[in-house]
Amino acid sequence: MASAAALLLQLQLLLLLSLSAAQPGFISLDCGGADDYTDGIGIQWTSDAKLVFGGQATNLPVQNQLQKQYSTLRYFPADNSKYCYTMNVRTRTRYLVRASFLYRNFDNSNVYPKFDLSLGATPWSTVIIDDADTPVVEEAIILAAAPTLSVCLSNASTGQPFISTLELRQFNGSLYYTDYEAQFFLALSARINFGADGNKSVRYPDDPFDRIWESDSLRRANYLVDVAPGTERITTTKPVFVGTELEPPEKVMQTAVVGQNGSLNYRLDLEGFPGNAWAVSYFAEIEDLAPDETRKFKLVVPGMPLFSKPTVDVEENAQGKYRLYQPGYTNVTLPFVFSFEFKKTNDSSKGPILNAMEIYKHVQITMGSQDANTMSSLASRYPQAGWAQEGGDPCLPVSWTWVQCSSEAAPRVLSITLSEKNITGSIPEELTKLSALVELRLDGNSFSGGIPDFSGCRNLQYIHLENNQLNGALPSSLGELPNLKELYIQNNRLSGHIPRALSKKSIIFNSSGNNLQGPSDSISRGTIIIIVCAVVGAILLLAIAIGCCLCTHKRKKKPSRETVVLAAPAKRLGSYFSEVATETAHRFALSEIEDATDKFERRIGSGGFGIVYYGKLADGREIAVKLLTNDSYQGIREFLNEVALLSRIHHRNLVTFLGYSQQDGKNILVYEFMHNGTLKEHLRGGPNDVKITSWVKRLEIAEDAAKGIEYLHTGCSPTIIHRDVKSSNILLDKNMRAKVADFGLSKPAVDGSHVSSIVRGTVGYLDPEYYISQQLTEKSDIYSFGVILLELISGHEPISSDNFGLNCRNIVAWLGRTLRVGTLTPSLMHHWIPATTCSRCGRSRRWASCV
Ligand SMILES: *[C@@H]1O[C@H](CO)[C@@H](O)[C@H](O)[C@H]1NC(C)=O
Ligand SMILES: *[C@@H]1O[C@H](CO)[C@@H](O)[C@H](O)[C@H]1NC(C)=O
Ligand SMILES: *[C@@H]1O[C@H](CO)[C@@H](O)[C@H](O)[C@H]1NC(C)=O
Ligand SMILES: *[C@@H]1O[C@H](CO)[C@@H](O)[C@H](O)[C@H]1NC(C)=O
Ligand SMILES: *[C@@H]1O[C@H](CO)[C@@H](O)[C@H](O)[C@H]1NC(C)=O
Ligand SMILES: *[C@@H]1O[C@H](CO)[C@@H](O)[C@H](O)[C@H]1NC(C)=O
Ligand SMILES: *[C@@H]1O[C@H](CO)[C@@H](O)[C@H](O)[C@H]1NC(C)=O
Ligand SMILES: *[C@@H]1O[C@H](CO)[C@@H](O)[C@H](O)[C@H]1NC(C)=O
Repeated sequence: MASAAALLLQLQLLLLLSLSAAQPGFISLDCGGADDYTDGIGIQWTSDAKLVFGGQATNLPVQNQLQKQYSTLRYFPADNSKYCYTMNVRTRTRYLVRASFLYRNFDNSNVYPKFDLSLGATPWSTVIIDDADTPVVEEAIILAAAPTLSVCLSNASTGQPFISTLELRQFNGSLYYTDYEAQFFLALSARINFGADGNKSVRYPDDPFDRIWESDSLRRANYLVDVAPGTERITTTKPVFVGTELEPPEKVMQTAVVGQNGSLNYRLDLEGFPGNAWAVSYFAEIEDLAPDETRKFKLVVPGMPLFSKPTVDVEENAQGKYRLYQPGYTNVTLPFVFSFEFKKTNDSSKGPILNAMEIYKHVQITMGSQDANTMSSLASRYPQAGWAQEGGDPCLPVSWTWVQCSSEAAPRVLSITLSEKNITGSIPEELTKLSALVELRLDGNSFSGGIPDFSGCRNLQYIHLENNQLNGALPSSLGELPNLKELYIQNNRLSGHIPRALSKKSIIFNSSGNNLQGPSDSISRGTIIIIVCAVVGAILLLAIAIGCCLCTHKRKKKPSRETVVLAAPAKRLGSYFSEVATETAHRFALSEIEDATDKFERRIGSGGFGIVYYGKLADGREIAVKLLTNDSYQGIREFLNEVALLSRIHHRNLVTFLGYSQQDGKNILVYEFMHNGTLKEHLRGGPNDVKITSWVKRLEIAEDAAKGIEYLHTGCSPTIIHRDVKSSNILLDKNMRAKVADFGLSKPAVDGSHVSSIVRGTVGYLDPEYYISQQLTEKSDIYSFGVILLELISGHEPISSDNFGLNCRNIVAWLGRTLRVGTLTPSLMHHWIPATTCSRCGRSRRWASCV
């Protein structure tokens, strides 16, 4: 029986796979439809007949061939049951689930239906039809936790529940990853393509995941209103780089609105809010600005001043034109009426731009009933029986027709009624595992075999097993059920003695129509043997169990491979700026890195965390590969956390992080290759290096490095303190522009030049206050940067016994003394370094103003 069920399940799976083979990860059900077809945009629709239990199909032909899926629907009785679609999914994979409802007066009643929709056990939405000809569409993004996902209709308060289409789209990569995805799914509130060309939505095939990006020109009542004067649409045909994960599709990013009068205003009504939202805006600079033009703006939301803190400079944040920048919040409380404004800053010459946005509500996933797994395993034994196909959770939001549940948050099954269902075979084991069961009715079937041991169901009060073909003895455990009130076993083929306890007066017991004898008086020899065996057996079992516990305990110490892989890039909560909600690092294969570096052939440097090698990827990109020393990280998870953090940091004055590799015990970080090496080499001149002689160039480098460090301090949340700012961490690209390297790594250093395992930094650059107090602040970086400025001016190393005279080995002390004595001549120095060096600047976070 069980294997037959498994086979059937497999067949079902095969069916699904073959249905969606041409569009991997797509399931598109035309509810009520009779046949399979491909629509005008290439979506392959299939009939839902095999996936749903109950309901009636109806056909209401449409003119528009593009919308053939709306010519049929399936409706269900307006009763207390729930009606579920159960679809096979890949566990631990994110899916977009979309259900649509186009009423079209299918029941000729013109009563607009209202009913509840649930995703598994979790209430998803109340579907309210208020227009017969406009589809209601509900969309959610959920991490599949089980091998099936069900969508259920229930609780019709008016009209009959119905459904027109049900779609499933599988995401890959880390698109829509959130920290909360095990407890919350995302219910779509708005996904808007700004500046869209006409009213048409962008979806498949422009969006390979078939998200529907609604045009902002399609105005619905109270949705996207209050548009500011001066809002203009712009569009480009040039390619826009949208990242490797296709977030959002290029076509969406190629259009935008800009606020020519300085601001963009919108108001959105967010169904189901106030609530906690996942909200992301998508920007790309798609206008060719003149060199002296800038576009900087802030988000302004009335009553929420924190939103306005960061400044968006799309081109800078995205590291170029025609590139995606996607700031947002992964968890922010939004009101029902959400008014927002993007407002240009005073020093910006252009008004704000907006290409797209998405807002989802976090919906808490209901735990589901405690007996859900047992019940679904029970139901899967009867693949042919209608009652076993009801789907969804056995208790929530509404229980199966043959089940009653307790009303706890995580309900238990209290009662099972499977009377006269024509069931054959033995009584399923699962029933004995329902430990809260009070009532069991299996009468009037063709159950055969023995009565299983119900001693685990201590609440059982009513047992109906009459009129079956059960045989064997009555287990004595039945008599030991402490709460048993009624037991019916008449008309079976049971034999042997009736256990003594069952003849108690307080129990209603009918055993007629069997071959049973009255209770036996003395304990027989056989029973003694059984008891002895049982005791010995129990001791043995106990011993084995203890052994097993020890084994599993031991094994637990090593995290399993699978959990580690899945734990991949974790994301942290952050501000508008740094929170790039769905971004993640690219993962390189170790072989790819080995090929690129010619098996770590050319060493180009070493830093606090390992050795850096030169590499060239198959596509020609030059890379710097940092092979981390093994003790840099305590665990894989820690490494991946760092990687996730690194991948969020983007600035044109920071060395671009390209990805990582994590294989065979090697932790590798991959960066863009910087052709001109370190600032240190250029100041003092290595064997092949040209010294930078131009003051303007030096100033430019100082400014570049300053911008990079400032971004770490103010553009990221939590603030990133570099901790090891020094001239060998300032790298120069092809054009001799400076970028800061080695940021974002927070673990203690392991390299000799560093002071201690607690204080990270390099002698000569280390802020004495930090060293003394061990209190790390941004000011420590500022101090180190001050030392770099001194290096830039003087060309001296920060620590040197040669350059500063006998009793002075430190550039800062040297400068202090020189200033006091008054021997410093170059007027330049007074020009851009205040006499007190940089400790004054240290008090201001925006120290760029010091330069
Ligand atoms: C059914 O719907 C009604 C009206 O929408 C609502 O008040 C009630 O709470 C719902 N019942 C359940 C069990 O969700
Ligand atoms: C993710 O999906 C896209 C589009 O369906 C596909 O091109 C890409 O190869 C997939 N990536 C992975 C890692 O499966
Ligand atoms: C877009 O739809 C609105 C109504 O929602 C209509 O007034 C407008 O004419 C449509 N625009 C185009 C370009 O079809
Ligand atoms: C917006 O700017 C245009 C010119 O660009 C001007 O004619 C119009 O009056 C401005 N509107 C407002 C409300 O400032
Ligand atoms: C979001 O933040 C709120 C308030 O800080 C918190 O209660 C909630 O659990 C967080 N997560 C989600 C997914 O809503
Ligand atoms: C920008 O200009 C407005 C009006 O001219 C002024 O009220 C505001 O204070 C200015 N903001 C800054 C940061 O200078
Ligand atoms: C009962 O099940 C048998 C096969 O197991 C089937 O032939 C018969 O039609 C069923 N009877 C009813 C009333 O469903
Ligand atoms: C026991 O069950 C049989 C058959 O259903 C019935 O005829 C008889 O009356 C029952 N006896 C009692 C004591 O209820």
